[in-house]
Amino acid sequence: MYLNFLRLITVVSILFHCSSSMAGAWDKNIKRIVIPSFGLTADQLPDPQSKGAVLFASYCSQCHNLPSPKMHSTNDWPVRFEKMMDHALLMAGASPGVKTPADKEKKEIVSYLEKNGFRDLPANSPLRAEPEAFNVVWFCSVCHAVPDPDQFPAKEWSKIVDRMNSYRKKQGREEMSNSDRKGIINFLAKKRQ
Ligand code: HEC
Ligand code: HEC
Repeated sequence: MYLNFLRLITVVSILFHCSSSMAGAWDKNIKRIVIPSFGLTADQLPDPQSKGAVLFASYCSQCHNLPSPKMHSTNDWPVRFEKMMDHALLMAGASPGVKTPADKEKKEIVSYLEKNGFRDLPANSPLRAEPEAFNVVWFCSVCHAVPDPDQFPAKEWSKIVDRMNSYRKKQGREEMSNSDRKGIINFLAKKRQ
């Protein structure tokens, strides 16, 4: 009984301590959020001079390093974008300096992202029933949608898969074994017609 009471006090004081120091810590730490393909600079973006790229670079690097516009599928970007706007709303108290785009700028950024995103594999695609698809979902979908194999030539896929594996490593995730890697490349590069 006494022990339980002590535990309760400890939990409450930890919670209290966290919440009172949260705003400052959040503010300082948010810049450190890790997005794979670290350290992209504005001039490395596709069409760096375009309006969309310029807006994307200025609004989307305020809280973390600039993500690649190729990191999500065309279908997923609008939802991801809205999630970021929600973050900005939530943080408004702790970080009043965060700028949010005007409606016209929002449209510009979303269409820039949609244009540069990859094509995802539809949820009802029969390819999802192929035995190797499980590993593709397992190793790829922690970061983004499963890509449609049809959009890159076979020889591109092994390079892409190795690049993705290096991001897994950087994030401290389990790397693909040699046979997982082969199976995934086989699924993506297979001639189906
Ligand atoms: C107000 C701060 C803030 C701004 C501004 C912001 N982000 Fe984020 N972003 C976050 C936070 C917090 C996370 C980590 C939590 C999460 O994944 O939602 C994150 C994570 C991400 C990730 C990695 C997770 C994922 O969904 O793949 C991507 C990509 C990303 N942001 C893209 C963007 C883009 C594009 C913009 C510009 C439209 C943007 N961010 C602007 C706060 C922000
Ligand atoms: C740790 C996060 C992460 C994982 C896991 C991951 N990706 Fe990616 N993916 C990214 C990032 C970041 C980008 C954008 C930068 C780039 O293309 O290098 C990207 C971009 C892509 C693109 C678009 C490339 C282009 O040039 O348009 C494809 C296709 C892709 N990934 C396929 C895969 C496949 C297949 C897997 C599983 C084997 C996978 N990804 C796993 C983070 C990840």
